[in-house]
Amino acid sequence: MNVLQLMQQQDAMPETYKQLSVEEMEERVARVKQKLGARLFIPGHHYQKDEVIQFADATGDSLQLAQVAAKNKEAEYIVFCGVHFMAETADILTSDEQIVILPDMRAGCSMADMAEIEQVERAWPILQQLFGDTILPLTYVNSTAAIKAFVGLHGGATVTSSNAKKMVAWAFTQKERIFFLPDQHLGRNTAYDLGVPLEQMAVWDPATNTLQYEGDVQQIKVILWKGHCSVHENFTVKHIEHIRKTKPDMKIIVHPECSWEVVQQADDAGSTKYIIETIANSPAGSKWAIGTEMNLVNRIIQQHPDKEIVSLNPYMCPCLTMNRIDLPHLLWALESLLEGKVVNRITVSKDVAEGAMLALERMLARA
Ligand code: 13P
Ligand code: SF4
Repeated sequence: MNVLQLMQQQDAMPETYKQLSVEEMEERVARVKQKLGARLFIPGHHYQKDEVIQFADATGDSLQLAQVAAKNKEAEYIVFCGVHFMAETADILTSDEQIVILPDMRAGCSMADMAEIEQVERAWPILQQLFGDTILPLTYVNSTAAIKAFVGLHGGATVTSSNAKKMVAWAFTQKERIFFLPDQHLGRNTAYDLGVPLEQMAVWDPATNTLQYEGDVQQIKVILWKGHCSVHENFTVKHIEHIRKTKPDMKIIVHPECSWEVVQQADDAGSTKYIIETIANSPAGSKWAIGTEMNLVNRIIQQHPDKEIVSLNPYMCPCLTMNRIDLPHLLWALESLLEGKVVNRITVSKDVAEGAMLALERMLARA
């Protein structure tokens, strides 16, 4: 579901919430949390704003948030502070009785929007014709539930940035080739890390429904969906060159949604959790340039006054959809629950959820 479709499903937040002071909103959120106790669970992704993340019961990267959602059996309401695909995953992994809420339906993910199920269904028979039954589909969790279901029903699995290497290695024990959706960069970076040369990777372009490759197609081992993250594409080789020139003793760490060129020239790459831990474990006085979302970079800077930390892109890169979840929307979603009203519920239909569960379970069993 793209952002436009999500907006059509949106319950409208009363204007009055926008006029409240931060102090009042914080006090009221805390009050609802206290009233609902264990009936309420708030997971928060590392890219969320501080004003929201301060109220999260658990924070994490995509894998950790999927794991905590799968484990939580007691919460009646899961108010997800993250983006749509994360809330869908939580709905799939929790029981039918548990209600998942996304405080603002406009919190989509532009990368997930780059792969629609209809496009995948158009691509698959062409790829089957070219390669026969030699391909295993894998999807980054940053994808719709429908795509996860497609992958699950075709023997594949979901991956996150923290287990992509393990999952791609597993996929190659199942089939000769992989079809990686929807982030070409994570797919390319991971396969390359595992020893697949770039010459054995092709790009599937959903706009033209064609495979972009020059040479003997039978050499192809990895088919990458032509999708990317519009936040991480803002970190470039030029930024790396600038840091190398101006701060030669600074280390560069980036998220693997950055391009292959950027990841190759950085000193290190990994999930949001990996970035947080690497910097936390580095000695006082160490210097870092980070290539990932702005809210997280700012938080890491604040948490480590003993280290010199900058954003790899000096203009900082916010994820605008993550930022849709703000204090007014969180408060509104929570107070609605006290009034017996559920706003912005995320529900994945049973048939889609069953297929998607197969893909998620294959990942969680190996995570
Ligand atoms: P992580 O799983 O590393 O937190 O990444 C999620 C995401 O959307 C990054 O853009
Ligand atoms: Fe999607 Fe990129 Fe935002 Fe992550 S940072 S949620 S991949 S748009």
